[in-house]
Amino acid sequence: MIDMILMIVGQGSIILPKKEYNATAVKIISIILVIPNHKSMKIAFFSTKSYDREFFNHYVSTHEIIYFEARLGSQTVNLTAGCDAVCVFVNDRLNAAIIGELKKNGIKLIALRCAGFNNVDLEAAKANNIKVVRVPAYSPHAVAEHAVALILTLNRKTHKAYNRVREGNFSLERLTGFDLYGRTVGVIGTGKIGQAFCDIMLGFGCRVLAFDLLANRELTGKGVEYLPLIDVLQQSDIISLHCPLNEQTKHIINNQTLQMMKDGVMLINTSRGALINTADIIGSLKTGKVGYLGLDVYEQEEKIFFKDLSENVIQDDMIMRLISFPNVLITSHQGFFTEEALTQIAQTTLENADAFEAGLPLKNAVV
Ligand code: NAI
Repeated sequence: MIDMILMIVGQGSIILPKKEYNATAVKIISIILVIPNHKSMKIAFFSTKSYDREFFNHYVSTHEIIYFEARLGSQTVNLTAGCDAVCVFVNDRLNAAIIGELKKNGIKLIALRCAGFNNVDLEAAKANNIKVVRVPAYSPHAVAEHAVALILTLNRKTHKAYNRVREGNFSLERLTGFDLYGRTVGVIGTGKIGQAFCDIMLGFGCRVLAFDLLANRELTGKGVEYLPLIDVLQQSDIISLHCPLNEQTKHIINNQTLQMMKDGVMLINTSRGALINTADIIGSLKTGKVGYLGLDVYEQEEKIFFKDLSENVIQDDMIMRLISFPNVLITSHQGFFTEEALTQIAQTTLENADAFEAGLPLKNAVV
């Protein structure tokens, strides 16, 4: 049953309830002709891929979008001339110099199509009177479920079993895993994603320990135990990071904190690469302190992730060393990558732009 009819005449468009349309079509057409479909803001999108264009093209209405595959940086900032806003992603670096150039080009809004904003110099944006908005939540379940996918794959080695069976190798040698039921899982950061992750692990029958600056009462009601960081690190069989990257959390996983963990611990990072000191984790993998490592993010990911480098000589020795371990599983920042999350990102980003243009309060403002 169709409730609404979209009428398009020339460049104008309007959505009308079907019953009104039937009765008053002639009058309505004269109204439609005086409503132009003008393009409100010109927005330069950086770091875009086919999937960004697909989802944004589906939802964009009044704004003019110019898509660039390149990252925003000193070589590409001139592409913003004549635009009103820029839309960027996790690995676009908006330092003070870039923000100064954006200001000169007339940019008034930085719209992040992600939750984290550690890649933007907020002080510089403020000083240049440029607003910064973000998408605070886009399916926390997507990232939480991806963290669980990493855990299950590392534990039950389904990636290896898949390849073995395809080659006619039906042996179970070295595929031994462990029951998640009854294991202790430590969660660092129990915001939207951490909470969704706790819920899943409780469903597996795990004991869930958490460290956060603020305890979440809903989670304590379900049996999650908040403890000091050191206790969470000491008692957990699996540790999953879900806190933001900031001055307090940078390299929260380092030689000192690694030594507090159980031998053979499983560590999962779907949050931000720089939460882990990469050199230190490589050392702990070599000694066996860390028994399994699942990463969806990597400290130096901006030069590598989201690109097909299969025919290139990769210059980053740390990631090549990490890839070489049999007990390390790396995905290329795909935690967010579900239909639900891409829809939410497109809708919220465009709502942020609409609100800015209309001079309305920016509920997703960072600055
Ligand atoms: P959130 O803001 O809802 O939750 C963050 C939690 O971390 C809060 O409860 C906060 O109190 C806590 N926290 C802050 N500082 C802390 C500290 N020093 N120690 C312990 N806890 C601390 O954020 P949300 O939506 O849960 O996202 C978490 C992170 O996940 C984001 O900051 C982002 O870096 C990452 N992310 C990764 C994605 C991916 O595709 N892999 C996609 C989306 C987010």
